[in-house]
Amino acid sequence: MGLLDGKTALVTGAARGIGKAIALKFASEGANIAFTDLMIDENAENTVKEIEAMGVKAKGYASNAANFEDTAKVVAQINADFGRIDILVNNAGITRDGLMMRMSEQQWDMVINVNLKSAFNFIHACTPVMMRQRAGSIINMASVVGVHGNAGQANYAASKAGMIALAKSIAQELGSRGIRANAIAPGFILTDMTAALSDEVRAEWSKKIPLRRGGTPEDVANIATFLASDMSSYVSGQVIQVDGGMNM
Ligand code: NAI
Repeated sequence: MGLLDGKTALVTGAARGIGKAIALKFASEGANIAFTDLMIDENAENTVKEIEAMGVKAKGYASNAANFEDTAKVVAQINADFGRIDILVNNAGITRDGLMMRMSEQQWDMVINVNLKSAFNFIHACTPVMMRQRAGSIINMASVVGVHGNAGQANYAASKAGMIALAKSIAQELGSRGIRANAIAPGFILTDMTAALSDEVRAEWSKKIPLRRGGTPEDVANIATFLASDMSSYVSGQVIQVDGGMNM
C-alpha cells in the first residue's frame, strides 16, 4: 500500500527538476498525477511515460502558471479528467538574478508573477474543489533565501518569502475546511536551475552546507511526500527547510 493511494496530485512546472522528482515519488506512492509546464514537448511526454510506468494515471498540460485565466481553465480540465484534486504543489519557478541597482522592472515582475502570482492562481482555482472534498494538502515551493534573503536575488527572495506567508495564511483561512497548507524551503539543490550558476558561486554555497553536498531533487520530493500524505495530517502552516543544515 502506498502513502498516497487513491489521491490525485497536481504539480506545476513538473516536466523536469524538482517538480518531476515530486511527481515520480508521488506516483511511486500510488497517486495519480496531473502536471503542468509551459510546453508539453518530447521531454515532458517522456516524463508522462516515466510516471505511467509506475502504474498510475498521468497527464501533462501546457499552461503558463503566471496567467490567471490559463490556470482557471487548466484546473477545470484536470478536475474533469481526474475527478478530484487532493494535493497541489506550487513548484513552477524561475530566477532573473541581479543587484537591486541594476534590476529592471521586467526582471522584478517576471519573477513575482511566475513564482508567487502562480501560486495564488492555482490555490484560487483548486480550493473550491478541495473545499467540496473537505480535504486537501497544498505545498508551496519556497527557498531558504525566502527565509534569510540573498544579495543579488531581491526579486526571487521576496517571491519565496511571499510563498511562505501565502501558505501560512491559507492554513489559517481554510483549516476549518480540512485543507492544510505548508511550504518547503530547499537550499542548494542540483538541478538545471543551479547548473546555470558559476563554479565560483557553487563552491561558495557548498562551503556553507554542513552535510557538504548539494541536495538532490529526491531529497525535496521526500519531504513533499510527507506533507502530501496523511503522515502529516496535523501539520499545517509550517515551513520545512531542506538544506543540509545550511546556516546562511
Ligand atoms: P527547473 O528550472 O529545473 O524547473 C522549473 C520548471 O518550471 C521547468 O520545467 C519550467 O519549464 C517550469 N516553468 C517555468 N516557468 C513556468 C510557468 N510560467 N508556468 C509553468 N511552468 C513553468 O527548476 P528547479 O530547480 O526544479 O526548481 C523548482 C522549484 O524549486 C522552483 O520554484 C525553484 O524556485 C525552487 N527551488 C529550487 C532550488 C534549487 O536549488 N534548484 C532551491 C530552492 C527552491
